[in-house]
Amino acid sequence: MNSLEFDRRHIWHPYASIGNPPPVRLVKSARGTELTLADGRTLTDAVSSWWCVAHGHNHPAIVEAIRRQSETLSHVMFGGFTHAPAIELAQALTALTPPGLDRVFFADSGSISVEVAAKMAVQYQHARGFPKKGKLLALKGGYHGDTCCAMALSDPDGMHTLFRPIMPQHYFADPYDFNTVIETVERHEDEMAAVICEPVFQAANAMRFYDPDYLRKLRAFCDAQGLLLIFDEIAAGFYRTGPLWAGAWAEVVPDIQCVGKALTGGHLTLAATVASAPVAETISGGSPSAFMHGPTYMANPLACAAGVASLKLFAETDYGAKVKRIEGELAAGLAPCRALPNVKDVRVKGAVGIVEVGQMPVRADIERVIDAHGVWLRPFCNFIYTMPPLVADTATIARICGAIRDLAASEPGPPPPDGDFHE
Ligand SMILES: Cc1ncc(COP(=O)(O)O)c(C=O)c1O
Repeated sequence: MNSLEFDRRHIWHPYASIGNPPPVRLVKSARGTELTLADGRTLTDAVSSWWCVAHGHNHPAIVEAIRRQSETLSHVMFGGFTHAPAIELAQALTALTPPGLDRVFFADSGSISVEVAAKMAVQYQHARGFPKKGKLLALKGGYHGDTCCAMALSDPDGMHTLFRPIMPQHYFADPYDFNTVIETVERHEDEMAAVICEPVFQAANAMRFYDPDYLRKLRAFCDAQGLLLIFDEIAAGFYRTGPLWAGAWAEVVPDIQCVGKALTGGHLTLAATVASAPVAETISGGSPSAFMHGPTYMANPLACAAGVASLKLFAETDYGAKVKRIEGELAAGLAPCRALPNVKDVRVKGAVGIVEVGQMPVRADIERVIDAHGVWLRPFCNFIYTMPPLVADTATIARICGAIRDLAASEPGPPPPDGDFHE
């Protein structure tokens, strides 16, 4: 059995059948925006490997930071110990997070940082004398991860419906109708601990943007109701939508912010839940005083060293200007899609370009476009999109737009079978 046959038979890939797996490509190396396959071909990574590779693949400064760190301390439990990479990363991160957010919990993935944020909200309300406040309000069309609580806070009719029996029940509002927030919270006031949302840009589920004014209203409403406001900046943060944080579109500072993905520039898995001092101090003043979470690989030194190097690159590089340029190029490059019969909408904000189609073309067409243009696309549901590395140059963005235009012009495929998550 060759290695690809072994992979096909024995290894689950994300959102894939192991009985009838979609094709996978054997990748050998990566640098900048380019992936090199085992057969020597190269593909431009138009999705930044699920939006984390901000500075480009295998960035020399990040690779060197990991290498150097590995010579002295690859891991140590964070209970009872601390280390320089964690301290330096927390210092660098809190220099970037919105004012007042400076208490850091390191998590091992974005989903876990969302679980941690939800637990902080519940423990905060418990400490304030509201032990029954154990529910959160989230937004329809959202996505916060694949672990249980994160799934439960994602779109209630989205890809996780099968798992309802193991999900805790939370409540949902419409990001285009603020009255639904007021009505839902008022109906469940005694249970509500916090509101969580992806600010401005709903990524992995609905692939759409909503009005920043909604966030301003949320801030005022949460303050009036004694609820915490949690921003999940895992996808939208680190300049993806234009500003460093998507919350800046509304000049709103949450009580808790989740960051992940580009934190290490897409080199090692690491996320963080960053809380305000009042949240942290309220939790500490309760019983238990300890915040009750602690993953084995919390604040892994290699990942923290990668994070320090990544944040240094964010601090040194004018990504605001780069993303503005990319935004203009995506807007111009994707605009012709509007005239295509299978295209419903074209949306661009920052380094995000989305073409929503009536029906996704068949898999063979997706593969043809990837191979013909040498551009790696990962369309899902009805969305053909790019979230390129923020270092992508003009020629690279033009090639990505060409591939998207070609795919959007392809024959629409049949609707996916009922209940199938089409991607
Ligand atoms: C907004 C948002 N939150 C949370 C997550 C989950 O992050 P992870 O895949 O690192 O668990 C994602 C992943 O796509 C995301 O887009």
